[in-house]
This record gives sequence, C-alpha cells and structure tokens, in this order.
Amino acid sequence: MFFSARHSWLDALYERSYRMRMGEVHLPGLALYMVNQPDAVTLVMEDSGTRFPKSPLLGEALKPLLGESIFTTNGAQWRRQRAMMDPAFALARLQVAFPPMQAAVNAMMDRLQQLPKSSEHDIEVEMTHVTADIIFRTIFSCPMEGDDARRIFAAFARFQALAPRLMLPALFGVRWLVWPWDIWRSHRAAREIRHLLEKLIQPRHTAYREGLYNQPHDILQSFMEARDEQTGLAFSFEELVDQVAMLFLAGHETSASALTWACHLIAHRKDIQERMLAETTQLGNTATLQAPDLKSLVLTRNVFRETLRLFPPVGFIARQSDRSCPLGGKQIDAGATVVVAPWLIQRHRKYWQSPDSFDPDRFDQPETRQSLRQAYLPFGMGPRVCLGAAFALQEATLILARLVRDYELTPVPDHTPIPVGRLTIRSANGVRLILERRY
Ligand code: HEM
Repeated sequence: MFFSARHSWLDALYERSYRMRMGEVHLPGLALYMVNQPDAVTLVMEDSGTRFPKSPLLGEALKPLLGESIFTTNGAQWRRQRAMMDPAFALARLQVAFPPMQAAVNAMMDRLQQLPKSSEHDIEVEMTHVTADIIFRTIFSCPMEGDDARRIFAAFARFQALAPRLMLPALFGVRWLVWPWDIWRSHRAAREIRHLLEKLIQPRHTAYREGLYNQPHDILQSFMEARDEQTGLAFSFEELVDQVAMLFLAGHETSASALTWACHLIAHRKDIQERMLAETTQLGNTATLQAPDLKSLVLTRNVFRETLRLFPPVGFIARQSDRSCPLGGKQIDAGATVVVAPWLIQRHRKYWQSPDSFDPDRFDQPETRQSLRQAYLPFGMGPRVCLGAAFALQEATLILARLVRDYELTPVPDHTPIPVGRLTIRSANGVRLILERRY
C-alpha cells in the first residue's frame, strides 16, 4: 500500500473505498481507520477539540515552517490561538478584504491581457499566483511584487513539493525511507520563508509597539491587536511569524487547487460557461464590482461548491484518538490514526446521486439537502472548521466571474490532468487550457 501511495495517496484507493463505511490498515506501529459513515465522521470532527486531536503526522512535516501555528496545535494552546484569530475573519472583515482581492484580480487580468488573443496556458500557475497575491495583500496591504515577495513564493513552492515526501513515510511508519537530502531541502526552504517574513513583519511590529497605531487595517494588524482573554497578552513576535506563515500557506494553496479544478471542469462544459457569462454580464462592469454584488452570482458560486465536492483541496483530514473507544462499530485503540476523507465521502456511492458527475445545479435541488448535511465537508467541520471558508468563497466567486466574463476556456486536446494527493489535490501534469479572449 505504501509503494502504491508513495507518489499520491489517491493511488491507494480502490472502487470499494467509495462504498465502504469504514476501512482499516494495520502495520507494525500503525493502526489507521478511514471513516466514511456520517455519524462517525461527525463524532470525530465535533470532538476534534478533545477526544480526537489533530494527528501529529501533519505537524511533523509542517513544523519547520509553521512552528506552533493554529493549523497544527491542539488543546488549550489551539483554543487560545483560535479565540485570538477569530476576529480577523469575522464577517465584517470580508468587506475590508474585498478591495485587495479585487486589486489582485485586476493584476491577474492585466497579466492575461499580455497573452495573445488565444493561447495555451497552465491555469494552475495563474491560479497559484493570483491566490498568493490575494492573501499577501490581505495580510500585508501590499502586492506580492519585488524580489523578497517572489523569493517567498518560490520557496513556498519548493516546500509544498517536498512536504508529501516527508509526510507519507511518517503516515506508514517508515520514516527511515525519507531521504535526508529532502529533509535538508525542506528545512532550508522553511528557514528562507521565515527569514523573509520576519523582514516584512519586523518594522510593522516595532512601529506597533512604539505606539504608531495608524497602520493599515489588515490581517497583520488584527493579529498584533489580538489579546489573550485571560492573560491580556499579545502574540509574541515568534508566534506572529508562525501564524502569518500558516495563513499564507493555508490561504492560497487550497484556493489555488480548487480554482484550478474549477477551470478544468467548466472548460469541458461550454453550456455552463455560457450561463455563468450571462449571470456575470447582468452585473455590468466587473472591474468595479462590490462585495454585495457577488451574492447574485448563484451559479458561479455553485460551480465552485461543486468543484469542492469533486476535488476537495484537503482530501483527507487526519486525527489521533486520545483514548480507546468505540467508533463506527469497532473498538479503536488509544493512539490510532483516524482519517476522515472528504475525497471519499463527497463521492460516496451511497450518499450522492451521480457522485462522479459535475452538476453545479444539484446545490439548488431539495433532494441534495440530505447529501449536503451528511456528506459534504470541504472546509472540515466542528470546532476546527476552516477559518477562511467565507474568504475563500468570496475570492473564488470573484476570480471565476472575472475570468469567464473575458475568456472562453477550452480543454487542450490529448491533455488529461491526473489528480494526485499531495499537500492538496493537484494535477501531476498541470492543467493546460486554451484561453480565448472574448473581445
Ligand atoms: C477552497 C479553499 C479552502 C479549503 C477547501 C480549506 C479547507 C480547510 C479545512 C478542511 C480545514 C480543516 C482541517 C482540519 O480539520 O484538520 C481548514 C482549516 C483552516 N483553514 Fe482553510 N481552506 C480553504 C481556504 C482557506 C483560506 C483562504 C484561509 C485563510 C485566509 C484558511 C485558513 C484556515 C485556517 C487558519 C485553518 C485552521 C483552523 C483551526 O485549526 O482552527 N483556509 N481549511
């Protein structure tokens, strides 16, 4: 199983994985349970704060970059961080985040404008660029331009490519198969990113501590203003770097993955692109859209939600049981790894009609409600549900609307993207599309 999964954990799945209620893997030193039943999934996810904390496997690979960030911590440390970070993502913040989103999308449209009227393009590259630019502008109030920003972006790409090579052997209990060279390269990329982020954060942090509060009202500012309810203490400088690094990674890697697959799916469906175009055209000039305008883009949003069902960027979520307990009709041991896989549940034969087909309109149909309630969790569920879900929906709706308004997307003949499970679900051979300007 390890050898088939070593390049992508999707390769370790079989057709029956999409029908099973629960799967088990037992190896020396490893007990892993794959949970597909809605009631067991809910139990694991709702109890993430206590009985089923985050598995240390993910943290192990990400720690050199993310340190003690909210993504990997557990217990009281996580609760304190979550309470301090929630205000930065409160609903009102979406209005504040909209102008930097729009500015980054304008920059993307300018880049595309430089291409010939009709050209072949790896859309993954552009989606990664625009989402990284959006999160960069939202955190720091400046565009991701200049040498340092480009070096951060390049080092992140190296770190992301190496992360699965470190994580998969750890998951299968064969850490000795990790190449020391890969560990060294991953640590070096993490050190470089942290050093560059420190250079960006340091002057703002110093200014804030010296009482210069008239800084831009961005996420970095919210993090500096956040206080621990009990002790009244702010994040230390080290913690700020951890959280910013985590946010940059969580905030663009996932959205880039989903948007790339959304483009792939609509490129094969001209009828849906036509309907999206009609929906967007009603709004007039898209370059001057405001956040509330996005509410009327129902189909565009459904396209993204359906993409998240078929290609959930976080394809599997790993927890560790902190005690021996019954789960899904089995007795599992303390320390067992419990995996909830949106990739499987959201394509499960029992919970979805036509589970493999792309049908954005299913989100408007009453009979889908039950499936959504029991088998749809692209943003996770329970206390550790994604902090940036509303942010992601807003940016994705905006990007897709702007793209389809100006370009017709067509698949490249003889190119079939191959999904692989890495840090997120990506394509092994890119997602090449023909982009043809409509005017
Ligand atoms: C389509 C885009 C996105 C998807 C599919 C996604 C998915 C997820 C999932 C599944 C989790 C829970 C992981 C777990 O329970 O182990 C999560 C957590 C998180 N996400 Fe997202 N995410 C997306 C975008 C974003 C964005 C844009 C941000 C920030 C701006 C963000 C910030 C976070 C944070 C901070 C957490 C950790 C929450 C905690 O542990 O308390 N995510 N995300």
